[in-house]
Amino acid sequence: MKIIPNERITMRRFDDLHCHFRLNPLLTEVLPYTTRYASRAIAMPNTRPRAILTGKDVIWYRNEIMKALEVSSDSEADFEPLMTIEIRDNTSSKMIEEACRAGAIAGKVYPLGVTTNSDEGLKNFFKPEILDTFWAMQDEGMLLLLHGELDLPRTLVTKRERAFLPILRTLAEKFPELKIVLEHVSSERGINMVERLGDNVAATITAHHLCLTLNDVIGDGIRPHHGCNPMPKDFHDLDALLRAATSGDPKFFLGSDSAPHPKEKKEGAKGSCGVFTAPVLPELLAEIFEKEGKLDRLEDFTSRFGAEFYGLPLNQGTITLVKNKWIVPEQIGSVVPFRAGTELQWRHQ
Ligand code: NCD
Ligand code: ZN
Repeated sequence: MKIIPNERITMRRFDDLHCHFRLNPLLTEVLPYTTRYASRAIAMPNTRPRAILTGKDVIWYRNEIMKALEVSSDSEADFEPLMTIEIRDNTSSKMIEEACRAGAIAGKVYPLGVTTNSDEGLKNFFKPEILDTFWAMQDEGMLLLLHGELDLPRTLVTKRERAFLPILRTLAEKFPELKIVLEHVSSERGINMVERLGDNVAATITAHHLCLTLNDVIGDGIRPHHGCNPMPKDFHDLDALLRAATSGDPKFFLGSDSAPHPKEKKEGAKGSCGVFTAPVLPELLAEIFEKEGKLDRLEDFTSRFGAEFYGLPLNQGTITLVKNKWIVPEQIGSVVPFRAGTELQWRHQ
């Protein structure tokens, strides 16, 4: 990484270890915003109408992404999608083996009802059949990616991550060889738990959770374009996330959770949850790390720690950011990007 203060940053291309590419037509529209800075990205499997559940789905979805890549960029794009499947109550060990053979490197659990497209999410983490599924993942060397929230009765949305943490602890201790990622950690308690657990546990952090508190979602009018799961939380949570992301602790790395939804779906009476950050991601992260006085830690967060946890070689290409103010467009295709209409300090070259 080469930093010329206030002028230019040249750094290794990113691994975005949590990204939503959706299906066409949105897929073709949003993919180039990620491939401009990332050489690899975890393609989340909560697509609709076809979710990614089996080896067959993995092959089909990878193909869809590769076709979109050809349409949307010069064919030489330095990009590889990292494939996943959704783990549901009926995901068997055999399905794990097949998905693995088809190239899936991780399985994602959405607990029932906690987020976009989790309507068929996991109900029970500890029934024997699903424990067999997790054993199979451990045997195959597949990672377990957890949306770490539980929708319990009389539990506020801001307490859902806290409600999930005992499950994380139990799984981490029961499966010490299974690599587990607490996706988009959003609370101080979540950070503390990941720090305390063994080396088999890590967490992704998004750029928007490094900027927002609940006040930015509902404290000054209701701002649908800041609405996401897990919900941004309190100031001490924001501080803990900033500290973890810039700490140099390899347990914390980038997963943008860039999650585009068409504008009309976000702005309706029941707005969809998810923030589209890909169009501003490296620019925004540079601004955040610079403000923390930790620009020198950015590359490890975006391009080293994730690859090392996943057991992947480091990316070889670089991107360059220059200090040059710009205003984020109000809309990109059918989607309103994060920070629409506001100024950013760094610009991708
Ligand atoms: C994501 C989506 O839109 O698919 N939404 C979100 O609020 N983050 C799903 C997810 O990662 O929870
Ligand atoms: Zn997500």
